[in-house]
Amino acid sequence: MSNLTTTQVYAQEIESERHQAAIYIDTYYVRLLAYEGYKNDVVDIMADLPKDAPLLDVGCGTGWFLSLLERKGWRNLSGLDISPHMLAVARDMGSAMTLHEAPIEEFSVATGEGYEVITCLGSLHHMPNLDRVANSLAALLRPGGTLIVHEPNEDWFYEHSTFLRGLMRLLYAPLRIKNSRRVRALRAPWASVPPSPHHDDVAVDELVASLQKAGFVLEQACFKNTLVRVLEGMLFRESAFDRALYRLVRWADKTMFDPLAGKRAGAALLRLRKPGAA
Ligand SMILES: C[S@@+](CC[C@H](N)C(=O)[O-])C[C@H]1O[C@@H](n2cnc3c(N)ncnc32)[C@H](O)[C@@H]1O
Repeated sequence: MSNLTTTQVYAQEIESERHQAAIYIDTYYVRLLAYEGYKNDVVDIMADLPKDAPLLDVGCGTGWFLSLLERKGWRNLSGLDISPHMLAVARDMGSAMTLHEAPIEEFSVATGEGYEVITCLGSLHHMPNLDRVANSLAALLRPGGTLIVHEPNEDWFYEHSTFLRGLMRLLYAPLRIKNSRRVRALRAPWASVPPSPHHDDVAVDELVASLQKAGFVLEQACFKNTLVRVLEGMLFRESAFDRALYRLVRWADKTMFDPLAGKRAGAALLRLRKPGAA
């Protein structure tokens, strides 16, 4: 990646997202119920923020999160994405949000016109230079503003992949059998889609360090283990037993592990603040 120019990196990212845009909403957010948990976690961590605050969703993709916020009463929404294909899907939703097509590293606003809230959901790990992105985010946010980040953090899992994948298969065998038809249906559309070339999972501690270097103060950090996320998806939480099992595993995950431990397999949800008067 380091021997590519920034323009080449962006071009590859856009090409990769072209393949994904068409099936993104349907598979990820509508059918893959694991994301129900993800959506609720993010909405909950922002519950106290004023709904008229100017908000920018960085790497907004198909705009599903902005639409969700709009339905929840947020009124001053903007999205930014490098991919025209993703943004075309967002535009088709016909909502009132403002959409910008640009790489975050090169996006700026006039002095004094920054955002009060910035969200980045699953987008930072597509961006090769985290420090540069962290500085852009800091420049776009008003003093006292809030940054919400949700990122997969699965280095550790994939580094130990052979053993752990085997273990996961064994542990989840009964659930896979129970839900096999639905799991197959979810996976099918992704079979021909190449992964994004810059998909490079970040460790939570590295992510926090980059953001702190850019001046952000960490206010809240949560983590959801991959085992819990997969379980969440496979259980589909339909029966009382499924829901109780899920609650038990989620409780153990929250209680027993440090959310900021570097290379844990799972997803991190962070809330940070830019110091200064609100
Ligand atoms: C995995 S998708 C996540 C999209 C959305 N946040 C969601 O949760 O569905 C990552 C998004 O980041 C966008 N992206 C990648 N590099 C970017 C950059 N440098 N600036 C802005 N957006 C970028 C991609 O086009 C893609 O839509």
